[in-house]
Amino acid sequence: MIHQHDNAVGALGYLGFGVASQAAWTDHAALLGLMSAAAGPDGSTRYRIDEHAWRFALHDDPTDDFLYAGFECGSAEHFDAVVRRIQDAGITIERDAALAATRGVMELARCVDPDGLAIELYYGPRLVPEVPFRSPQPLTGFVTGDQGLGHIIVNTSDVAASTAFYTSVLGMRLSDRILFEAAPGIVIPLTFLHCNDRHHSIAIAPAMPGGKRIHHVMLEVPGIDDVGLAIDRFMKAGTEITATLGRHSNDRMLSFYVRTPSGFEVEYGCEGIAVGGPDWSVGTHAAISVWGHHRARI
Ligand SMILES: [Fe+2]
Repeated sequence: MIHQHDNAVGALGYLGFGVASQAAWTDHAALLGLMSAAAGPDGSTRYRIDEHAWRFALHDDPTDDFLYAGFECGSAEHFDAVVRRIQDAGITIERDAALAATRGVMELARCVDPDGLAIELYYGPRLVPEVPFRSPQPLTGFVTGDQGLGHIIVNTSDVAASTAFYTSVLGMRLSDRILFEAAPGIVIPLTFLHCNDRHHSIAIAPAMPGGKRIHHVMLEVPGIDDVGLAIDRFMKAGTEITATLGRHSNDRMLSFYVRTPSGFEVEYGCEGIAVGGPDWSVGTHAAISVWGHHRARI
């Protein structure tokens, strides 16, 4: 059952990145099991993970960082209501027909979060079920559908401002928090927000000096063998595994983390729990993981 909130964004639909090396990403995307899609009219390299025409766009850009996130708003009426909600909050948001055409959606509006991250709201994405998703790996598919493509962790300079934007302005709801003691006396707050049954579509972390705009993107696969086979692929390729296999404390995701060619990470996991609708009780955790997720460095 989907618990979509009134006048709120519905799902994380697509992501754009600026990458310094498309060649390095070609190999990395194949290891992740992404399917090549038709190039974007803007020249971006695009990838599929399901029946959507694309979910990831890679643009030539030496910053090697996150560029934009698209959130689905279901229908024209829902989209209008979300845009109104954002305007009513005093946030500048602009409808952009040319960008909608580039992204392959019916209508689109763009605003920025408190850190200047580009947030795009849209409805009517292009779907291509007539060209079934086929991974280059022995993988049946990714867990997407109403839960969207996965989740991202954004690094923010102001946790309170960022949390207020994604909740009060975009309408997302608090799932829980992790107050993680990285070193004695140094507590890092992680705030997890949902906009559908996926435990979180976005989480907010304090920015670290020299860090990327996002810490990681999470992709969910159907089962533990899909996770294990991916670990084997990355180890064989010599890719840096940034966190070992582990079980997260809050969303119970069984996952590992790998370094992408752009420096930020991908979390690759299975078995994430759904948030329980209106009866969901917000919790606070002290640990990121029940077990595992060991890192050589934070
Ligand atoms: Fe994650």
